[in-house]
Amino acid sequence: MSEVNRIWRLRKRPVGDITDEVLSFEEESIPEPSDGEFLFRLNYLSLDPTNRIWMSDMDQYMPPVELNDPMRGVVCGTVVKSRHPDYAEGSIVGGLGVWADYQIGTPQSVNLMGDTGPIPVVDAFSTFAVVGPTAYFGLLDIGQPKEGETVVVSAAAGAVGSIVGQIAKIKGCRVVGLAGTDEKCAWIKDDLGFEVAINYRTEDVPTTLAAACPDGIDVYFDNVGGKILDACLKLMNFKGRIPTCGLISQYNATEPVPGPYNYGMILMQRLRVEGFIVLDFAERYPEAIAALGQWMGEGKIKVRTEIVDGLENALQTAKKIFTGANTGKLMIRVKDV
Ligand SMILES: NC(=O)c1ccc[n+]([C@@H]2O[C@H](COP(=O)([O-])OP(=O)(O)OC[C@H]3O[C@@H](n4cnc5c(N)ncnc54)[C@H](OP(=O)(O)O)[C@@H]3O)[C@@H](O)[C@H]2O)c1
Repeated sequence: MSEVNRIWRLRKRPVGDITDEVLSFEEESIPEPSDGEFLFRLNYLSLDPTNRIWMSDMDQYMPPVELNDPMRGVVCGTVVKSRHPDYAEGSIVGGLGVWADYQIGTPQSVNLMGDTGPIPVVDAFSTFAVVGPTAYFGLLDIGQPKEGETVVVSAAAGAVGSIVGQIAKIKGCRVVGLAGTDEKCAWIKDDLGFEVAINYRTEDVPTTLAAACPDGIDVYFDNVGGKILDACLKLMNFKGRIPTCGLISQYNATEPVPGPYNYGMILMQRLRVEGFIVLDFAERYPEAIAALGQWMGEGKIKVRTEIVDGLENALQTAKKIFTGANTGKLMIRVKDV
């Protein structure tokens, strides 16, 4: 074991885009586990839009990271020293941790990942830790898509969005996705089988979306908020559903964000708009993992993962999420398992 722990600490709250001064990469001594705890070494760090939320002190769904504290992240690691009977050395764990080579775990913070069967640990972690269950519960529990309905999803080539669209296809829906590059649009249409892909950066969204949804929208899975939400609201059908999963278009906002112009459609069309956090469904994770694993095994769900080596690259890599430079689930690899 190296004598030094490398760790990212939050030194400044971001204003607008994530900048280099927000986090600092430091060297510290490796912590010692107490009774009931264990020390694990980082294998993979998931980089997620919510990292930007946690860095800020905006109203949010869990406490923000305190200034000068280690940066919080979704992590996968290997137990190297244990003072907990159920977490033997060599066990693979996954859950909430920090951006550091070595860290203390407890059963409250991380779970044993168990046997992932034919699915490599890296794929199990990237798909099952957050984004797969988010897509599964958000679409099926809240969106409740029915065969033949039109489902629209934004950030459609991203980690959550690409799985949402594929589950909607499995359920017999017509799927329209919005993404930010022609390459992403080609992937969701040609490889994933979405009926229509719209490049929201180069096309006029209200016009192209209306043409793409001649029978209106039954479910809009919202990953972005803002103008795309507004364009979808205008086209929603009677009793349509909007699972509010994320608002990435406004996480970096420096001014108050205007409300949707087409808000009145919620009343006129008796829409159900419901926000959710995947943690709300924590007790039902096994259900989502079983279904997603089966669909992946049958080739009905394909996932794209972008893995960058080196914990030292975490900050620069995280910035990609907000420019759309990431292609698929973005992760840092420190050491393969
Ligand atoms: N509720 C929950 O529990 C939960 C859990 C996980 C994720 N989420 C949310 O789900 C959304 C997607 O997360 P993810 O992990 O799957 O990330 P992702 O889609 O893999 O990456 C984020 C993507 O968002 C798009 N984007 C960035 N800025 C945008 C903007 N201003 N307008 C429109 N699109 C923009 C970019 O794609 P383009 O190239 O297409 O622009 C970027 O690649 C986020 O809003 C996230 O907060 C929610």
